[in-house]
Amino acid sequence: MYRIRGFEIHDGYLDRHAQSSVFSAVQEIARAAPPYAPMTPWGKPMRVKMTSAGRLGWYSDRRGYRYVDQHPDGIPWPPIPEVIMEMWRDLVPGGRDPECCLVNYYGEDARMGLHQDKDEADFAYPVVSVSLGDDGLFRIGNDTKGGKTESLWLRSGDVVVMGGDARLRYHGIDKIRFGTSTLLPKGGRINLTLRVVT
Ligand code: SIN
Ligand code: FE2
Repeated sequence: MYRIRGFEIHDGYLDRHAQSSVFSAVQEIARAAPPYAPMTPWGKPMRVKMTSAGRLGWYSDRRGYRYVDQHPDGIPWPPIPEVIMEMWRDLVPGGRDPECCLVNYYGEDARMGLHQDKDEADFAYPVVSVSLGDDGLFRIGNDTKGGKTESLWLRSGDVVVMGGDARLRYHGIDKIRFGTSTLLPKGGRINLTLRVVT
């Protein structure tokens, strides 16, 4: 584990076998709650496809960013699979369990602009981010917009804990390197973020 600007980078946290188990769990979530492209508040569909597991799912449309208790098709979010819960309990011991596991799928041209994760009510808990599949170029900024940034490639099995001083730090994904991993049969990158919401 090493730190960049307060972000804990657990590189190689999941070995290949564990990555496969977590990927299977994600496929189960996607079967129950199909990924969709959320609409940004400014009316453009996002390039990243999303779905969620847990009591609450992250959602976006013209009314803004928020957590909702149902998939847009009106179905409940599936529970967070146990293999995913185990990672949280290992990295964030002795606290509350996450209420949301947001699943982001990045295809060849997907990216995610610099943003803060601030739709949660309690910033005492970290956001735990798990990378699967193709490499993603992760950029870390500051607590306000602008200023110098630092970038690193996140690989399949890497986990980032964004907590403490870094909980509200800007971050994003500039691009992925499509086809760098064989974990996802059709390529692309999956990122999971586990969050305490309420
Ligand atoms: C996020 O910040 O929500 C996702 C980050 C990532 O895809 O690694
Ligand atoms: Fe984020």
